[in-house]
Amino acid sequence: MSRTRDVKAITTVYVCTNMRIGGNSCANQKSKAVLKALQVRADARASAGGAVVAVRPSVCMGYCEEGPNVKIMGGELLHNVREDDVERVLDAAETVTRD
Ligand code: FES
Repeated sequence: MSRTRDVKAITTVYVCTNMRIGGNSCANQKSKAVLKALQVRADARASAGGAVVAVRPSVCMGYCEEGPNVKIMGGELLHNVREDDVERVLDAAETVTRD
């Protein structure tokens, strides 16, 4: 069983996976690949003793031309996120603390 399901996450990272018809959207800029990569690496980092970060899909964030968009709850809204950015996103998420 995944550790991220057993332990309360310090924060949640949302990845827009919205597909818009007739315009740019996160889904047609490979956001689902970013979501999957974030989920895999977040789970691996938590299993290795790192902070627990939940990663979830999201509806449109209103920045469709700048996707994929990723929101770290309590932290940054990131644009043009690529699979190569996954470690940087998770590093930023781990700095967020709950109130
Ligand atoms: S489709 Fe992702 S922000 Fe609108």
